[in-house]
Amino acid sequence: MNPSETMLAGQRALVTGAASGIGQASALALAAAGAEVILADKADCGETADRLDGARQIRVDVSEAGSVTGMFDIAGPLDIVVNSAGMLIESPILDMSAEDFDRQIAVNLRGSFLVAQGALRGMSAQGHGRLILIASELGVLGRPDFSAYCASKAGVIGLTRALAREFAPAVHVNCVAPGPTDTPLLDIGSMSPEWRAKEAQNPLQRIGTPDEIASAVAWLASPGASFMTGQTICPSGGAVML
Ligand SMILES: NC(=O)c1ccc[n+]([C@@H]2O[C@H](COP(=O)([O-])OP(=O)(O)OC[C@H]3O[C@@H](n4cnc5c(N)ncnc54)[C@H](O)[C@@H]3O)[C@@H](O)[C@H]2O)c1
Repeated sequence: MNPSETMLAGQRALVTGAASGIGQASALALAAAGAEVILADKADCGETADRLDGARQIRVDVSEAGSVTGMFDIAGPLDIVVNSAGMLIESPILDMSAEDFDRQIAVNLRGSFLVAQGALRGMSAQGHGRLILIASELGVLGRPDFSAYCASKAGVIGLTRALAREFAPAVHVNCVAPGPTDTPLLDIGSMSPEWRAKEAQNPLQRIGTPDEIASAVAWLASPGASFMTGQTICPSGGAVML
């Protein structure tokens, strides 16, 4: 048997944003490494569940405190939590409404806070756990017309560092900050074929696949990442070099 198929055997994982893209790929990667995976999303996770022979699903809105508390109550004890739920609104800041700004922050940053809080409550009580937050290379690089998104993702990187210090040594808290990755998140106005070609102008000259981000997530959940906490790793084709 391939050792990677048992690397996370006996571990219970929960992944938000598991209906699509990076969350779906992360759920599949953790399951492929032997973890029992619970799928959480505001959307139906049926397609992901089908690919996992019927994993449990929980409907959640990560921006709502009561919804997140309910998710953790249903899920029970967890060894691994990945927060991949996120959204993106593109807008020049001079045209952006305060409501759109708040919505970005509510889903991407408050959602990370609420999911982290629920995860860490259980993990600190049990004395171990791996929490993995998903930011973006744009939280480091910045980008015109993505100000709220960039701010939310920079916040997730700061949250990771603070929580890693607050919960060490029991819980490992890390962050994956992907570069552009081929998921439905990219299906917004400006993301034309020309845009994608421009995005591919990183050292590796292409955008990433969800599986390439998920492999970083699965590694951070694995015994091999035992000396990692508070880190942000950037699978971005070399666009970000820390
Ligand atoms: N695709 C990229 O290029 C890219 C790059 C960097 C970072 N990211 C980040 O990766 C994460 C996953 O994005 P993706 O590319 O897989 O996008 P996606 O649109 O394929 O998946 C996002 C998932 O989050 C869910 N979601 C959105 N709001 C939610 C909420 N309030 N509560 C619960 N679930 C919610 C959606 O239903 C969807 O299933 C996001 O945090 C995103 O910001 C993506």
